[in-house]
Amino acid sequence: MKVIVCDSYESQCAAGADIIEKIVREKPDCCLGLATGSSPVGMYKELARRCREEGLDFSKVSTVNLDEYIGLEPTHEQSYRYFMDSNLFDHINIDKANTYVAKGTGDIDANIAEFRSVIAKSDVELQVLGVGADGHLAFNEPGPSLYWSAHKETLDESTISANARFFADRDEVPRYAVTMGIGEIMMAKRLLMILSGSNKEEAARLLLMSDDVTCACPATLMKLHHDATVILTKELADKIGYKA
Ligand code: GLP
Repeated sequence: MKVIVCDSYESQCAAGADIIEKIVREKPDCCLGLATGSSPVGMYKELARRCREEGLDFSKVSTVNLDEYIGLEPTHEQSYRYFMDSNLFDHINIDKANTYVAKGTGDIDANIAEFRSVIAKSDVELQVLGVGADGHLAFNEPGPSLYWSAHKETLDESTISANARFFADRDEVPRYAVTMGIGEIMMAKRLLMILSGSNKEEAARLLLMSDDVTCACPATLMKLHHDATVILTKELADKIGYKA
């Protein structure tokens, strides 16, 4: 894995945006795999600025997202469709018809089938990733085994607690999600993780300071990919004792 250590969250986001910008400029009709969560927000902001001020052109880009909560309509402020629109798509010149976030309401089995077929048809150039405090990737929670393809996932109590900060009440946090599977994530040509957040030390340690590849920390599966990049701040690197 390639590891980039940055002085600040801002430079971490700029480094991530540099990688995406290069791909979009070289292949204007590429497909990007995108992620939600707080970690990539600054990078999306920076990409929007480059689109606005520097002509970075997303008009031919298509996207597919990692996951969606079950039970939230796309118009719900905490749905991942809403997140993507408000944090990125509304601020760049992308054709929203070419952006895909799985549906979290209606017939979930049909939604999963559709999600799997969209992923199968997408030739994802780069997949953006964050990591959950418990080491989850997308919404693939730690467990005795992981799934290759898109499926319904029961969220861990720790994930519900971590994501409760976005909801008025913990009881409002969905208990289930649809998520891309680990195999589908690994099919992307490149992986890019923005490793950020105060509760990420344990996952960061297992990812960067150990040789383990374990279902107990799905993020460690990234180590199996031939072109994976992790970007983190010096502060987090120092906390876990990582030296470049
Ligand atoms: C959610 C998403 C993940 C994301 C994680 C971490 O659970 N499903 O894809 O990586 O949150 O989010 P944050 O960056 O806010 O810590």
